[in-house]
Amino acid sequence: MFGAGHETTVNLIGNGLLALYRNPDQLALLKAEPSLITNAIEEFLRYDSSVQMTGRVALEDIDDLGGKRIPKGESVLCLLGSANRDPAVYPDRPDRLDIARPNVKPLSFGGGIHFCLGAQLARIEAEIAISTLLRRLPDLRLDDADNPEWRPTFVLRGLKRLPASW
Ligand code: HEM
Repeated sequence: MFGAGHETTVNLIGNGLLALYRNPDQLALLKAEPSLITNAIEEFLRYDSSVQMTGRVALEDIDDLGGKRIPKGESVLCLLGSANRDPAVYPDRPDRLDIARPNVKPLSFGGGIHFCLGAQLARIEAEIAISTLLRRLPDLRLDDADNPEWRPTFVLRGLKRLPASW
């Protein structure tokens, strides 16, 4: 529970703040309309997911999934970060951060019977952390938003540090 719940949520907050400060128009919009925070968190989850993939094992033969045959017992990797930017689902420029984007449905918490147990907790934590930072530290700025240092991880995605001043 600590493993599943800590680094993932820390990275949602870090990746979300970085995305926001790299898109000053979106930062200004959120400061002007703080009620957008709930949708903004969904967009942060979609735009730069702190979990990039999850796995499944096929319980039966699948004849055709996107043109591939998957035999029973085969492992499948689901690239959540890629699916989150599927242009068929997000025709309005999926590579753009848009905190007011309608119908954001990130796959960052997985799906089905193994859907993340802590999804609602993570959303609440991120919402409180980011909205409190913006409210309490209106002059907050990132020291080097153009050259962030990422952790050398593969499944999880997050920053080593995010130096900031105010
Ligand atoms: C932004 C934060 C988080 C992200 C992106 C995230 C993502 C995920 C993903 C992708 C899975 C696998 C789902 C699947 O394969 O369908 C998962 C499972 C899980 N998560 Fe999270 N998680 C987050 C926060 C948390 C928190 C805060 C907790 C608990 C306090 C938590 C507890 C769990 C547990 C227990 C599972 C296993 C569920 C199962 O296998 O039935 N997660 N999470």
